[in-house]
Amino acid sequence: SRSSDLVGLDIVITAGPTQEAIDPVRYISNHSSGKMGFAIARAFAQRGANVTLISGPVNLPTPSKVNRINVLSAQQMWQIALESAVKNHIFIACAAVADYRVADIAEQKIKKSTNEMQLTLVKNPDIVSDVGHLTENRPFTVGFAAETQQVEQYAQDKLLRKKLDMICANDVSNGQVFGAEQNALKLFWQNGSEQLPETSKQQLAQQLVNKIVERYHAKEHE
Ligand code: PMT
Repeated sequence: SRSSDLVGLDIVITAGPTQEAIDPVRYISNHSSGKMGFAIARAFAQRGANVTLISGPVNLPTPSKVNRINVLSAQQMWQIALESAVKNHIFIACAAVADYRVADIAEQKIKKSTNEMQLTLVKNPDIVSDVGHLTENRPFTVGFAAETQQVEQYAQDKLLRKKLDMICANDVSNGQVFGAEQNALKLFWQNGSEQLPETSKQQLAQQLVNKIVERYHAKEHE
């Protein structure tokens, strides 16, 4: 039945934003609400898959039968994600991970002083790229690309550069994707693409799950 056709399939999903501390009271983050990633987790779990959801700080209830692990920073998410990736069949990176973190987190609250101040940022590890480049126990790897311009081109660049099996191009130029109830995606894989038109994130997640499962089985039988 539909409620159990994915029993035995192990899925790990990252979702939400990360928080990069500046000092004990401040951080750098973004507008991801976690809705898209949580919808994917729910859609897989509804079909009997074993789902691990690695979530940044969001205000969402955990979907039924999903194993949720909360993290704050990109480095924390990287550690849990790499440990989990090698134990799962499919890895899906829906999180909006901060590309940079503060070089030296202040131990005390930074006091207001000069008119200008500078923060030095250093690059965070790229979680989905590190999973894509695994040489042992590499899962089927799906990334997202949130872009405001040249969406399809940048998404296809990321598919290759991060060594992914599939990428979900997400046009966020209208300012109505982060936190919204609806979304649209264009999927790309090595020899194909498919448009998933705008609908609720829950419906979109169900269609995405169908496509991921199809491509996962197609790759297994290559
Ligand atoms: O959470 P919502 O409010 O529902 O919004 C959904 C969403 C817009 C966040 C989601 O649909 C989405 O597009 N997620 C990816 C956001 C993103 O950061 O995209 P990116 O193009 O910057 O990153 C490309 C890919 O690399 C993504 O799979 C990202 O998870 C991954 N990445 C990026 C940087 C990093 N250090 N590690 C990563 O794994």
